[in-house]
Amino acid sequence: MPWISKNSAGNAVEKRAEPYLTPQMRSHLSQHIVPRYEQKMGALLPCLHEIQHAYGWIPGQAMLEIAEFLAIKPAEVIDTASFYEEYWLKRKGKHLVSVCRSIACEFCGQPGITQAVKDALGIDVGETTDDNEFTLIELECLGSCGSAPAILIDETLHENVKPEQIAGLLDAARKAGAHH
Ligand code: FES
Repeated sequence: MPWISKNSAGNAVEKRAEPYLTPQMRSHLSQHIVPRYEQKMGALLPCLHEIQHAYGWIPGQAMLEIAEFLAIKPAEVIDTASFYEEYWLKRKGKHLVSVCRSIACEFCGQPGITQAVKDALGIDVGETTDDNEFTLIELECLGSCGSAPAILIDETLHENVKPEQIAGLLDAARKAGAHH
């Protein structure tokens, strides 16, 4: 199938027996969401949202299930899902480390912060550790430019961060347990 070869979808769809789009979700979407749209395609974003809300990301199998549910092509689902940055098409770790890469933070040492996280976790930006504990991303201004560099670990903002603090902050997040 042509859509499987798209980079955004990865090269294979991992399958599990239990559907991601559960009977409860299907019934909720059929009754309350799909009827709002003239065409079923219109309900695609709400369906993607439902999956991401439930699982924290949108697995390939879930996209196939949505395509079947809405009677649209899998390619239409993946194209739409990969177009919007807020949809996660890769598994997200239990903890999300978000490093601000905007100008004030960049000027105040953000590259060293990103590097310290990469070194501590052994992953690149956009990746998740093998133990599924951490995902690292970079994002735009966190509104703490006066206390740059700033990072978010899950929902906790850390300001004036120094590279040597990173390992301790990650440890604390790990000890705090699962976030999702
Ligand atoms: S530039 Fe990083 S918080 Fe504003």
